[in-house]
Amino acid sequence: MSDDVLLRATDIVKSFTSRGKKLGARSVATAVNGVSLEVRRGETLGIVGESGCGKSTLARCLVQLLPVTSGTVEFNGATLTGLSRRQMRPHRREMQLVFQDPYASLNPRRTVGDIVADPMRINKVGTEAEIGERVRELFATVGLDPASLRRYPHEFSGGQRQRIGIARSLSLNPSLVVADEPVSALDVSVQAQVLNLMADLQETFKLTYLFIAHDLGVVRHVSDRVGVMYLGEIVELGEAEVLYEKPLHPYTEALLSVVPELNDTDAPRRERILISGDVPDPSDRPTGCAFHPRCPVATAVCRTDKPAFVELRTGRFVACHHPRNLDA
Ligand SMILES: Nc1ncnc2c1ncn2[C@@H]1O[C@H](COP(=O)(O)OP(=O)(O)OP(=O)(O)O)[C@@H](O)[C@H]1O
Ligand SMILES: [Mg+2]
Repeated sequence: MSDDVLLRATDIVKSFTSRGKKLGARSVATAVNGVSLEVRRGETLGIVGESGCGKSTLARCLVQLLPVTSGTVEFNGATLTGLSRRQMRPHRREMQLVFQDPYASLNPRRTVGDIVADPMRINKVGTEAEIGERVRELFATVGLDPASLRRYPHEFSGGQRQRIGIARSLSLNPSLVVADEPVSALDVSVQAQVLNLMADLQETFKLTYLFIAHDLGVVRHVSDRVGVMYLGEIVELGEAEVLYEKPLHPYTEALLSVVPELNDTDAPRRERILISGDVPDPSDRPTGCAFHPRCPVATAVCRTDKPAFVELRTGRFVACHHPRNLDA
């Protein structure tokens, strides 16, 4: 693994088996269906896709909160998949998750000071006095009043709670922070504050981010590169600026066309492309290209042949039989 790659995922598959409605019937939902990606040191890799496309499942597989069905995760030169809990412990500190919902992810019965201190207590990284000092420091770092650390989560606003979640994620000095829709539950004005805070922290602590969102508007400003997920697969990956300017996949193009803030500039307005229907059920995956039933440019080959995920231009990967904007 080259030195500038912090995390590499190869062919990650995660399936869930559930009982069907009929007696004895079982259905297998493949939430993540063969994802490969690299996260480079110091960068922010954004992952975008509609609700249900497998973003949270992928995030949990990468940080080993969920065992993968198959595939490998390498982190900092070590292979994590297959490690025991004990073998995983030193790596676990290095990779932290910030959760989607700041209301549900903080234990309501613990003070926010304890919530931030707990990872340090569990990992025995100092005396109680040292940990207390570090908690006050972390509160100040994320813009919270250290005097409030004896309060409970319900006494804080959504944005403040997400700051608490971020402080907790930083308590063990991780190198990778996987942020799973960290601002989706927040008001737009508060979103900007939290995104700015995360950008500042990245610079100060040399963090690497995997940043998940369902909206291309949110990840644009924070991402160096962006991967677009559809039904458990990454269908396009590239430098953020180029991907927003000239998307290759019709799905990316459609997602971009409906982000208001990307379309109200002086640039010629993109035609709004409506994709009909919802994300299909991962236990009933369409044949060929999984996007074909909703794709405006699908042809016969898309219904039968699954397109390979290939590097069409340097650093620009896509899985599509009819990539867009190539000549432009
Ligand atoms: N523990 C589980 N058991 C069974 N199915 C699951 C489980 N976790 C997730 N799934 C299924 O896997 C698919 C992907 O779910 P996931 O939560 O990863 O999507 P997501 O992209 O994070 O969605 P959202 O944007 O709504 O958070 C969904 O169809 C979901 O129902
Ligand atoms: Mg999710």
